Amino acid sequence: MVDLRINGKTHRVEAEPGTPLLYVLRDELQLNGAKFGCGLGQCGACTVVVDGAPVFSCLMPASLLAGRDIVTVEGLGSPEAPGPLQQAFIDEQAAQCGYCIAGMVMRAHALLLKTPSPTEAQIREHMDANLCRCGTHMRILAAVRRAALGAKAGGRTAEASPARQGAL
Ligand code: FES
Repeated sequence: MVDLRINGKTHRVEAEPGTPLLYVLRDELQLNGAKFGCGLGQCGACTVVVDGAPVFSCLMPASLLAGRDIVTVEGLGSPEAPGPLQQAFIDEQAAQCGYCIAGMVMRAHALLLKTPSPTEAQIREHMDANLCRCGTHMRILAAVRRAALGAKAGGRTAEASPARQGAL
């Protein structure tokens, strides 16, 4: 048994020592935002944030996370009330098939926690670990820019980002 604090709520779950957090999230807690892509730490579809840092949940044993602060995409908002970062992804239409998007959002969340006004180079370097097979990278980058600009402007994310206006 391990107590996991996820999105501000503590869950007592059964987890064998090697069971990845991703399996616990999806199979035990029905938090299905994080996806299984490669299972090897190479795609980022499973990304969640632990103590402010992006983590591949397919590789992270849940048993090591007692007392840590875990945030999944469900912790940032809901389909009915998306959070500002999620709204930026919607506004930029950053999803095509959508499989990678929860992981992208969570990696971006970790960036903006640490660096609220990232440079273009910082955004690109930070997001590099997550892959999108559909090729919507430019829209994803635009969404991260939009979220950062929105936060700077006091939480507004509705206005079109300069990058989006120029790129598409
Ligand atoms: Fe975890 Fe690909 S499923 S990195």
